[in-house]
Order: sequence, then structure tokens, then C-alpha cells
Amino acid sequence: MTDTLVLAYSGGLDTSVAIPWLKDKGYDIIAVVLDVGQHGKDLNEIQAKALKVGAKQSIVIDAKAEFADKYVAPVIKANMMYEGEYPMVSALSRPLIIKKLVDIAHENDAVAIAHGSTGHGNDQVRFEAAIHSLDPDMKIEAPIRDFQWSREEEIEYAQAHDVPVPINLDSPYSIDENLWGRANEAGILENPWNQAPEDAFALTAAIEDAPDTPEFIDITFEEGVPVALNNEQLSLEKLIIKVNKIAGIHGIGRIDHIENRLVGIKSREIYEAPAAAVLMTAHKDLEDLTLERDVAHFKPIVEQQLANLVYEAKWVSPLFDSLMAFIDDTQKNVNGVVKMKLFKGNATAVARQSEHNSLYDEDLATYTSSSSFDQASAVGFIKLWTLSNTVYEQVNHVHSQPKKNTVK
Ligand code: ARG
Repeated sequence: MTDTLVLAYSGGLDTSVAIPWLKDKGYDIIAVVLDVGQHGKDLNEIQAKALKVGAKQSIVIDAKAEFADKYVAPVIKANMMYEGEYPMVSALSRPLIIKKLVDIAHENDAVAIAHGSTGHGNDQVRFEAAIHSLDPDMKIEAPIRDFQWSREEEIEYAQAHDVPVPINLDSPYSIDENLWGRANEAGILENPWNQAPEDAFALTAAIEDAPDTPEFIDITFEEGVPVALNNEQLSLEKLIIKVNKIAGIHGIGRIDHIENRLVGIKSREIYEAPAAAVLMTAHKDLEDLTLERDVAHFKPIVEQQLANLVYEAKWVSPLFDSLMAFIDDTQKNVNGVVKMKLFKGNATAVARQSEHNSLYDEDLATYTSSSSFDQASAVGFIKLWTLSNTVYEQVNHVHSQPKKNTVK
């Protein structure tokens, strides 16, 4: 009996040549494409292509809702941004892809899982770390990493094995995409002094082409998760798709990032994440209104830890779960509506309200005489607030001169 292998299939040249190559190695192949919202791809065509080039079975799974609810929602709640710039796009889909692949492998008594990552990126680590954690006995095949073929050799192999070679092969980019955004690297982008040309972008208009009038949208949040757009209740999946479209027109969400990869390389990445830019800005704004100060000041430390864990392939880890439990607890009061202004590449929060959880007290904050804030109570507070520093300075005179009459 031939061993069965489950392949994370994308439909591109790399994972397509992997099929005859793995077949030659003696596997029956089940190709699996996860629909996580990759834009403009015909997944039925991709499914058929896998069979055409030799897969025994080809499966497409619509994982968009699960991806949004279980993977993107935590990123929003925790404002996760790797190195303050990258909203985790590719890092997020890997653990879900592997979860599905391991299930399919088990259902079909497969002995191995294959992925199409190269040997110098983060994704190989994320794929394999996820496989190890869910099933340490599962064999892993990484044909693209193992081939180390030149483009010419790969094409030659493809032609010899009836794998269709796309005509636009000279498209130099390496693209990964899902609901939450699009990552683009390689080609002309590899030189960080090269400005990204317009053809590197697919989801966003150039600012020069963005409309001259702003657009305003209302995002409603419940427990830190967006639930409605302009008062229309939507699943997170649908809401993200809509906001991507609207914000993309305004040129919002382009990111040009020199990034520190897990494997030690610096890389230049061009991302487009219009919905992430809008929703995460809105979310943070609503937190400003609803989180108590100490919580608000502490939370970013946890957020950064979480972003690093996700980026560094540790989605499945007790630290991630514990920190997320803290985040979830902070989110129970993050309810309300934020009005976002979309204009020429910028998504700005311009108004916000929270019916039940706003900590903003107009009576305390007002400059008018109706203020309920007891200004007299500030006097003693200020004296005690920095008393220890006053004592230190008066003893050591780092920033001041001793008073003449106190010099002995
Ligand atoms: N550098 C990003 C990450 O590690 C994106 C990688 C996406 N892959 C790609 N082929 N563009 O998450």
C-alpha cells in the first residue's frame, strides 16, 4: 500500500511541481487548498489543477469564517503588530492551515504533510512547529526547500511532468494573501532603496488616485470585536471583506517594512492591509475611551509579547493562551462605536461613543465652571506625588543650586 501525504497546495508553480516530485517519492497525494480569503483566485480551478498534475484527491476548504473569528479577532483585541508595523497577516494563517491538514491527515491515515515554503523564511518554521505540536510523529516534506532548484530547472522539471507553467512567470513577486491582508516580497522589492512600483499592489489605490473627498464609516465593537459596519450587523469575515474594499479605494493600509525574520535575516516586505489599518485604529481608539488607565498602560506590554509569539511560530503555546486570557478579560468593556474618517491613505478616528462603558466623564473633564472635579484636592496631591524626588534633589542638587542661606 502506498503511503498517503497531505500537501498544503496553493496552485502556484512551486506546489504544483511538488506533486509529481512527491509522487515519484512514492506518495499518494491529497492536495488541500484552504480558502482564507485570498483575493482574485479561482479555487475551483486550483482544485482541478492539483488533480491534473497528479494528486489523488484535491480538497478546497472554506475556512474564512474560522480564520476571522478564531485568528483575526485575537489580533484585533490585542492590537498585535509585529515590530509596530506588521499586522501578522501570513503568520496568522499558518496555524489554521496546519490544524486542518493534520485533521485531514488523520482522517486518511496519511503519514506525511508537505508544505511549499523555502528554507529562508518564517513560514517553514510556522508550518513545521504547528505540525510538531499537533502530531510529533507526522513526517514532514518540504520539497521547495529541498530542491533548491533554479527557476530554469524548475520549469524544465515542470514541462517534463506536464505541469502547466504560467505565462506571467516573470512576475517577480512572492505573494501570500488572506482576508487580513497581502504580503509581497522578492523581485525588485529586494533592494530596499527601490520604491515599490504600483504593480506590487493589488488591494489599495495609490494615494494620488484616491478620492478627493473623505468617507466616514462607523464601526461597532462588542467585547473588542467589530460586529457592525454603519449599523449593519455583519460577521467578522464579511465585515473585513467590506472594509478592505472601502479602505483600499482610499489608499489605506500600505506598509513598507524592513522586517527582522525569525531566521535571522532582514527582509523588505510590502504589505497591504486596509481593513487592519481601519479596524485596529478604531479598536485602539475605543480602548482609550473604555480601558482604565493602569490596564491601558500595561496592555501594550502583553500585546507586544503576543505579536512576537505569533510571528515566531508559537500560536500553540501556554504563554499565548494565558496572555490571551488576560486580553479577553480586558475586552469585556470594549463596547461602542467609532467613527472613522478615510482619506488619502489615512484612517483616523474622529468620534467615538460607548453607551455603557465610557470612562470619559464630561463633568470631570470640562473647562467650564460646571466641572465636578475638586481642583483644591490637586494641591496636596501634587506635593506628595513627587515628594521623594524633591527630597533627593534638595539633598544632591543635580539640577539646582543650593540656596545661599542654607550653605553652612
Ligand atoms: N514576512 C512575512 C511573515 O513572515 C510574510 C511572509 C509571506 N510570504 C510571502 N511569500 N510573501 O509573516
